Amino acid sequence: MLMNKPQKGMIDDFPGDMKKYNFIKSKIDEVARLFSYAEYDAPVLEPVELYASKSSDELVKEQSYLFTDRGGRNLMLRPEMTPSLARMVSQIIKEKPKPFKWYACPKCYRYERPQKGRLREFRQLNFDCIGDSTVYADFEMLQTVISVLNTFKVPRHTYEIRYNHRGLMQEICLAAGMPATALGALFQLVDKKNKIPPDDFQSALSGLCGNNTAQINALLSARSPSDVRSLIPNQQNTRLDETIKKFFEFTELLGSTECAQNTVFSPETVRGLDYYTGLVFEVYDTRGSIGRALFGGGRYDNLISHFSSESVSGIGFGMGIYIFSIFLEELNVMPSFKDGPDTEAVFIIPVAIQNTAFCFTAAEKLRKNAIPAEVSAQILPLKKQFTKATQRGFTYAAVIGDTEMQSGQIKIKNLTDGSEVMRKLT
Ligand code: HAM
Repeated sequence: MLMNKPQKGMIDDFPGDMKKYNFIKSKIDEVARLFSYAEYDAPVLEPVELYASKSSDELVKEQSYLFTDRGGRNLMLRPEMTPSLARMVSQIIKEKPKPFKWYACPKCYRYERPQKGRLREFRQLNFDCIGDSTVYADFEMLQTVISVLNTFKVPRHTYEIRYNHRGLMQEICLAAGMPATALGALFQLVDKKNKIPPDDFQSALSGLCGNNTAQINALLSARSPSDVRSLIPNQQNTRLDETIKKFFEFTELLGSTECAQNTVFSPETVRGLDYYTGLVFEVYDTRGSIGRALFGGGRYDNLISHFSSESVSGIGFGMGIYIFSIFLEELNVMPSFKDGPDTEAVFIIPVAIQNTAFCFTAAEKLRKNAIPAEVSAQILPLKKQFTKATQRGFTYAAVIGDTEMQSGQIKIKNLTDGSEVMRKLT
């Protein structure tokens, strides 16, 4: 016999799981509508170059599902959506008005060690705004994240948004004397800081930063944007000045709104993907039950320029639906969904074989009135029919015999409380 379980790290979505997913998706669709986002989709297979030296080495070299197709092309199952989005937007960037506010909920694939909330095949919500490089777009992205959490009634004390600015970190490190070529490795290391023993982190850090280690440690221990200000070297540096100005514009805007309640400045948040250049953020469960980020995102300035002569900045985030639904379930804010028919559905029971054709007509009339209906495929004693209806998850049943055929009226019985209502078939 063949194995009936899915591949390691992949999950079968049974009908009850799809109801859960569709519930989450419908709420997200509403947030998207309220923020004027339009839905898009992209192919699940992309050329490996789309990710190589843009996403992260880890995604391409260690976590990719890679294969060569029959035409000899090196293809990858998409591990994330942002490069596909950049590729798509670049096709229309010159003729359509900006910004592009797009969202999607694609399946993505990463060959990771499966663990709580992390799989090898997962649905990932993506919201991205391309073509608006202002701090207002940065702020609105955080507002969108909070709206997604609010729409599920996630209590404010159960999560925090950790934010940082990759560009600022980069400029401070460069001004301190770090070579530009070491920055990628430094950010990868900082991204792993909480996943490796502190001594290992420190020895890797001093290997990378040499004389700058103390300064980088001071930067990583900053608790507020103003702590960072005190670490900024006093020197003429236009790029650094511009970045600081923009970052403090953002923190002031954030500080003047309610969104500040759930945000914390976190210099250790640098994100594992190489394309981020500005604001970066992650959402964490403050109860500690879900050890990994629920949402992650940031600003990327240079992705579109890989595909177009027009250089346009984007900002967005990704959120794993599976990890998020575990979070919602743990908080008891997720309704329960049962397998089986709709709660309004009626199970139609023919008394005898000669009533069956009429039962199908009756079912069709109910459906025309938006009431789901199904005709029992067997002639059985009524008690057995009711038991079958209950086991299948129907709340309503209607028995149709010669009397009902003549009158054109049926009695719909509520199987939970025994109540009955007459209904004319129209
Ligand atoms: P990411 O941090 O790699 O960012 O993923 C974002 C979110 O996707 C994570 O916080 C997590 O909820 C979910 N996720 C990632 N890997 C898995 C997995 N193996 N199983 C289940 N869930 C997972 C990105 O992918 C960026 N492209 C996000 C983005 C959009 N940045 C800008 N726009």
